[in-house]
Amino acid sequence: MSLKEESGRVELKNCIRNPGFDDADAAENTGSDPGERQESATVKLDTDEEYNQLQPYAGMPKEVLLLYSTRARYRVPREILFWLTVCCMLALLAVTITVIALSPRCLSWWQVSPVYQVYLRSFKDSDGDGVGDLRGIKEKLDHFLELHIKSVWISPFYRSPMKDFGYDVEDFQDVDPLFGSMKDLDDLLAEMHNKGLKLIMDFIPNHTSDRHRWFNLSRNRDPLYEDYYIWADCNVTSPKPNNWVSVFGNSSWTYDDFRGQCYLHQFLKEQPDLNLRNPRVRQEIIDIIHFWLAKGVDGFRMDAVKHILEASHLRDEPQVDPNKPPELITTEWDLYHDYTTSQVGLHDLLREFRAEMDVYSREPGNYRFMATESYDYQEVDKTMMYYGTPLLKESDFPFNFYLLDLPQNISGWWAKHLVDLWMTNMPRGKWPNWVVGNHDRSRISSSAGKIYIRAINMMLLTLPGTPTTYYGEEIGMENINITKSQMQDPAGKYNMSASRDPERSPMQWNGDMNAGFNNKTNITWLPVHPDYQTVNVEAQMKDEGSVLSQYRSLNRLRQSELPFQRGWFCYILADTNVFSYLRELDGHKRAYLMVINFGKQSATTDLSSIQELPADLKVLMSTNPVNDGKLFQKSRILTEPGEGLMMQYSTYTRFHPNHPAECFVSEKACYMETIDILYKC
Ligand code: GLC
Ligand code: MG
Repeated sequence: MSLKEESGRVELKNCIRNPGFDDADAAENTGSDPGERQESATVKLDTDEEYNQLQPYAGMPKEVLLLYSTRARYRVPREILFWLTVCCMLALLAVTITVIALSPRCLSWWQVSPVYQVYLRSFKDSDGDGVGDLRGIKEKLDHFLELHIKSVWISPFYRSPMKDFGYDVEDFQDVDPLFGSMKDLDDLLAEMHNKGLKLIMDFIPNHTSDRHRWFNLSRNRDPLYEDYYIWADCNVTSPKPNNWVSVFGNSSWTYDDFRGQCYLHQFLKEQPDLNLRNPRVRQEIIDIIHFWLAKGVDGFRMDAVKHILEASHLRDEPQVDPNKPPELITTEWDLYHDYTTSQVGLHDLLREFRAEMDVYSREPGNYRFMATESYDYQEVDKTMMYYGTPLLKESDFPFNFYLLDLPQNISGWWAKHLVDLWMTNMPRGKWPNWVVGNHDRSRISSSAGKIYIRAINMMLLTLPGTPTTYYGEEIGMENINITKSQMQDPAGKYNMSASRDPERSPMQWNGDMNAGFNNKTNITWLPVHPDYQTVNVEAQMKDEGSVLSQYRSLNRLRQSELPFQRGWFCYILADTNVFSYLRELDGHKRAYLMVINFGKQSATTDLSSIQELPADLKVLMSTNPVNDGKLFQKSRILTEPGEGLMMQYSTYTRFHPNHPAECFVSEKACYMETIDILYKC
């Protein structure tokens, strides 16, 4: 390659030709003596003049480069650039810190989506044995996606003799063959994660099955397992250790002739209570938590937590009616459960479990969720304890069962009363949740009346916090009628009205045989509801005005509209018929007014005294699709019984600043419309 001299620019060739540099380089490379090197330097100085006429070029030797870089022409821009870079970096850092400091916490997956409860026996039977199974759920995962559901709680699938349909666990680390195999579970979990779904499983720390290995060893007084359960002296003929009764009725003590003592069971006699005061038992529970979390399960619904500890003194519980003969004390309603529920130490235990779960929550997007189940009825403050404290985390939320009482007195003010019970008692900043049905309680469409199902779904999906949906609620499934011979639930044995079978009937997928729950045989473990020809997923998917279509649109809206996700929730009105509230977010133009008629009559609601509302309100969605798009004056909003209206309006005038006592917010944030961001405020 020939290197040329072009228009006064000296290229590499000239440089190489320079004797001074050749010699200096050579001296360095060969390590020749210092005298010789000095001579070369002199030669170099002599040639400075020559270099001064050169222009800078790539690959130029250091000395020549230095000659240029000190000139103002090069130095000043360089310094300007340097300081500009420093300033930009600092500005960037400041902006980043400000953005981080001002950004509200992101909502977690269990806050964004409703929790959908799958009662496994009844959801989908893949192998035609009449009982739902894990593969069945896997076949139906798209159903959740269609409903815009992300979190799915599956009732117990542990190995079990099924006395209480899986709530009597024989092996906490195995899957019952009736539901499939561990491989099926792994496949289901992987597929759920692929589809962006989270799996919450049932966790039963209070008791095991009487067929569990630990119980066997305990009956045998194996020294390590002797105190795994709660044993007390008694014999076949002598009285029970005390008057405690089981949730399912009759004494909670059963004599075990093998060990010659009585054991405690707060549920069935086949469900002996574990002794969680024993550190070894606690460690077993923690090991099981690790086992499932390591598998990748996303959370637990902690079963029957208020029963976890009992008073060690085993004294009689006080009778509700002190005059009742002791032999007639047979139901849980006959006693005040001072010694068998909510004992001191219970929350320490749950917090210990929570801390174990947090270890697995650290990876981003991998938060492990905990919900607790405790029916505390009149004692709502006891339920709120499960939220933990600002410093000690416990459950993300205790299930809120108060709306299950809605049918007792269905009306606008009763709905508000039940909602308010939670909102006013919930610790500040915690996240609410709403339950209207589960595998232990009558379906609300049956107990409240079918006409209210849409209104109830609408309320659930527009209240602040996480709604739960018991399978079938999205299509308005109702209880089935059960004859004595069809009865499956052991809880119904003592008292048929306590049977939980009616709300556990097979999911209604389509109008085919067995409602599409299975199609291989004609058996289903419980009868299918006779209305399945019309009340089923397939039919309702095709019908835009169906309960299902409404559920889908409401849930889509709930997840896309910021006022529903993180906005204020304010009461507007509650009377015999109507419960009305609004959802608004500071800085967000769109706000939503809900007017829901839980009464038995048509109502004309006058909201003219609410100045913050515009004079005219347009219905974005009614539970009666005929009224979609209708315009109401705020002084005359008409609703029919069981009708819910969602009205969207645009304003920057906010209701909550003038009515702080009527309003709540959990994760407060404000919206900046111009740049479409949320910030702490
Ligand atoms: C919970 C379950 C219920 C079960 C009981 C005993 O309350 O929801 O179905 O029977 O615990 O485990
Ligand atoms: Mg217990």
